[in-house]
Amino acid sequence: MTTTKISVPLLDLKLQYETLRAEVEPMLHEICDSQYFALGPKVVELENEISAYVGARRAIGCASGSDALLLALMALDVKPGDEVICPSFTFFATAGAIRRIGAVPVWADIDPVTYNITADTIAEVAKNCTRLKAIMPVHLYGQTVDMDSVLETASSLGVPVIEDAAQAIGSRDATGAMAGSRGTIGCFSFYPTKNLGGFGDGGMITTNDDALADRMTKLRVHGGERRYYHSEVGINSRLDALQAGVLLIKLQYLEKWHASRAKNAKLYNDIFGAAGSIGLVTPQPPTVPARHIWNQYILRVKDGKRDELRDHLTDQGIGSDIYYPVPLHMQECFADLGGLPMPETERAALETVALPIFPELETEQVEHVANTIVSFLK
Ligand SMILES: Cc1ncc(COP(=O)(O)O)c(C=O)c1O
Repeated sequence: MTTTKISVPLLDLKLQYETLRAEVEPMLHEICDSQYFALGPKVVELENEISAYVGARRAIGCASGSDALLLALMALDVKPGDEVICPSFTFFATAGAIRRIGAVPVWADIDPVTYNITADTIAEVAKNCTRLKAIMPVHLYGQTVDMDSVLETASSLGVPVIEDAAQAIGSRDATGAMAGSRGTIGCFSFYPTKNLGGFGDGGMITTNDDALADRMTKLRVHGGERRYYHSEVGINSRLDALQAGVLLIKLQYLEKWHASRAKNAKLYNDIFGAAGSIGLVTPQPPTVPARHIWNQYILRVKDGKRDELRDHLTDQGIGSDIYYPVPLHMQECFADLGGLPMPETERAALETVALPIFPELETEQVEHVANTIVSFLK
């Protein structure tokens, strides 16, 4: 078993850029020559491509995944004091968007295997709601929630579903449908660390509802359908042409990158599986036609050894991170909210660690990371 010190970063975007430079640079010059920077034809082209890729009737570009969530809530008329069910085990933006418009995040606990909220945990917290207005599940790490049961529960509660698909472009549920294609609205992030990442911030909203799509298209430009005529108050959330240009190029490689990530995940799982019982729980890919897109590979480390293992990886020059160390119900800014106990969320925050999974990793690097972990825990 290898113990050589080979440094492996958690993510190296420069490697990907090297493979794209020849295509990206002329496109950047083209946009500079056009001096058309905000929205415009490149953004429309990307919206059409994403709508076709995701399988949603409409796609609307916006400035970030956080804004996508905010615009979705605004378009669904979620008002101050309304309740929105969401996970506590997610990136801050999920609940941040809800709170920012004055609505109340209601925390649902996660399934310990998928790390996603479920129809059962949603139904449990819905019992205590008096002003429930929407459900906002997150397809965490690139694996969808169980859409069939979540949609059924939402329908029985009479509320829409806003899919936070920020980490999940291209992931498929048990029916084979892509994240963002079945909920009332789907929200995507093109932050650089995502499987489809731009050169800065960017986001996209998907929906099959034309009226909602038209409203969000208006809300992203200060609520004006025509320039200088405003029927309601929106926000400034335009997607840049430069981002759209980069994303259009990258979209051509997205399926290949998903496949490389899946290959890396399988290699980790094979090596950890062969190591026997060493206190690890590996992520389980769902059965086809469902698909995990492995935005993150998350390992659960038992027996209180997660932090020790992380320190060891850092000493060995191996990148790792914790997504997320402080659940949202434990954040200072949400201290007033209360809610049911969140045992699985709190356990996941203490036991999980993200390993390098990006597509350009060499097989030897994945083996080295996995073998370093196995040697340490054995
Ligand atoms: C689950 C989740 N929701 C929302 C967002 C917000 O996206 P953005 O960073 O593009 O605003 C992110 C981004 O990291 C995310 O991971």
